[in-house]
Formats: sequence, C-alpha cells, structure tokens
Amino acid sequence: MKKIRKIGILTGGGDCPGLNAVIRAVVHTACNGHGIEVCGIIDGYAGLIHKNVRPLIPADVSGILPRGGTILGTSNSDNPFQYSELGPGGVREHRDVSAQALKTIEYNEIDVLITVGGDGTQIIADRFFEKHGLPVVGVPKTIDNDLNGTDVTFGFDTALNTATIAIDKLHSTAEAHHRVMVIEVMGRYAGWIALEAGLAGGGDVILIPELPYRIDKVCDKIRQRTASGKRFSLVVVAEGAKPEVGELVVARKVNDASDPIRLGGIAAKVANQIEDMTGIESRYTILGHVQRGGSPTPFDRILASRFGYHAVEAAVSGKFGYLVGLRGTEIKTTPIKEAVAVPRRVKAEDDMVRTAKAVGTCFGV
Ligand code: F6P
Repeated sequence: MKKIRKIGILTGGGDCPGLNAVIRAVVHTACNGHGIEVCGIIDGYAGLIHKNVRPLIPADVSGILPRGGTILGTSNSDNPFQYSELGPGGVREHRDVSAQALKTIEYNEIDVLITVGGDGTQIIADRFFEKHGLPVVGVPKTIDNDLNGTDVTFGFDTALNTATIAIDKLHSTAEAHHRVMVIEVMGRYAGWIALEAGLAGGGDVILIPELPYRIDKVCDKIRQRTASGKRFSLVVVAEGAKPEVGELVVARKVNDASDPIRLGGIAAKVANQIEDMTGIESRYTILGHVQRGGSPTPFDRILASRFGYHAVEAAVSGKFGYLVGLRGTEIKTTPIKEAVAVPRRVKAEDDMVRTAKAVGTCFGV
C-alpha cells in the first residue's frame, strides 16, 4: 500500500456548523498523529478547478473549533463533471473539467482527498473515485440530516437547537396575542428539522415532506384547541412540505444551477389558509439561513471531531471510497455509493412521529 504523505481536504455544498471542527481534527490527526501533511482546497471543488490550494498546519486551525462556517470556504455550484460557464453570446454551457481538477491534485501531490459535504459533494467524490481511481474519504455534513451511512450528520444538532429556540420564542408571543404562529424550517426534501424541532418545541402541528398534509385537518386541530380553551397554536412546517393535493412552494427557480429549485415560502401560504379558514389571526416566520450559522453545539463539535479523526484513520488504512458515519455510538464506514444512493427521509412509522402523535401533535394527515 502506498504511503500517504499528503491529505487534501475540501468542504463542499451549503455550510453548516462543525465544518471547522472537522478541519481541525483532520489537521491534528494527520500532522501530529501520522506526520502527514495537509492542504486545504478553497471553496470546495471550485478550488480544484481553479488551482486554489493552501497548506494547513496545526497553527492554522488554532481557535477554530467553536466557529461556524468554514475557514476553507465552500461552494454548491462547482461540479467539475458539469462545470457551468458563460459561453460565447452569454449562453451558459456545461463542460467536464474533471481533468483540470485532477491536475491540481497531482500538482499538489495530494494522495488522499477528504470530502466534507452532503449528497452533492459525496456524489462527485464517488465519481472521482470510481471513474479516475482518486482515493477519497467522505465526511457527512448537512443540517438536513438526509444522508445515509450515518445515524446523524454533523450540523443537524445545531440547526435543531436554533429552530427549537425560535419555536420557544414564538410560543410566548403566540400565547400573548392568541394567535397561530407558523414557523418554516429548512431541510430540503427531508422533514428531520421540522419533526425534531417540532417535538422539542411542543409544536401543535408539524408538516413534513414525507407526510403530505391536508389543510382542513390542520384547521380542525386548531379549532379543537380553541374549543378546549387553548387560545394559540404553533405550526412547524418544513420548507419541503407539500399538501396532499397541490404543489411544493418554490421561492425561485434558477435553471442553470446544480439545484434549480430554491424552496421557501410555504409558511405564508399555510398561515394565510389557517387565518381564512378558522378566522384566527395567524402570523408566519421563515427561519432561513440562521439555521446554518453560529457556533456548533457540543454534540456537533464532538461528532465533527470524531469524523475528522476517523477520516484520517480511514485514509491511512487505505479505506478509499468510503464515508465515515455514526452508527449507534461508534464510528463506522459505508461505501459512499451506498450512502448517496437514496436520501434518508422520515418514515411514517418513525418512533419520533409516533411519539409526537402520542403527545397530541397533528401531522395534517
Ligand atoms: O442543504 C442545506 C440547505 O440549507 C437546505 O436546508 C436548504 O434548502 C438549502 O440548503 C438552501 O440552500 P442555499 O444556501 O443555496 O440557499
């Protein structure tokens, strides 16, 4: 087995709290534990395409553990296999520039690439591994918690905390004004943030993409609460929630983007429908990117550090094409291909769904 002398690390896709903790753990484990050099790729795969790489030594990662964001920068629009550029006449064209990215790897003498990212980042990593034999090790990140190969992604716990704090704050104002408060949380096509923040914050209604809802059932629940003397209600809605009959609410479509659908706005629709159908004053809040920011929770700092440490150990033992992940209390590896084959979504029979129902939460079904 070839001796590993240098590890490259990149952070790709939407940022989330804990990225810096992974970078720090990778640098310390590699440099101090194994005498391996580390370099950071700037702005995700864009750095490979544009030869933007910097050395990382332990001094560079000092003090970054509690910081949100990523010291390396990130990008969710630079797929080397389908790179989008303005061509002649201002028309957008897609080209395969993976050879250019591989040249950057070769030039910088990177033996293994650690890719810290969600499904988009890992699908690209797996393509480099399968098609070009590039040694890669994946680290699962996303606030959406929708990756397989791990029980939980880092970043999720922090987003969940932020969303729960927001629900708690809305609770008191809802109660004071006898209103319905609708809060929209992120998660793309997975309902984990809505489900868990809704359960933690005591949401009366939780709407998630996996369980298409009926607005009449939501209104029935609110009326029942009013009839029983509860003069306010909290509705937690995932940005990707969808009515049984009807469409997703899309904030914007950007045709040339890697993910052309920007979700957002369902909270306004739901709040207005509730007000119209029940006559109870309703307001909405869209939490948005605040869920991606800030200092990681202790859980995320620890998980991200463990992932970083184990990613280096996997690299050293030649376990390429794998993703590190949390299984129970242990860190295990899963082939990236398997982890990204299907997204991890909430199941109707999930214990948290059953628990939420048992404590009186309505899913609009
Ligand atoms: O995947 C993380 C996430 O925050 C989703 O929850 C959300 O739909 C999306 O990214 C927003 O992406 P952007 O930062 O491109 O607006």
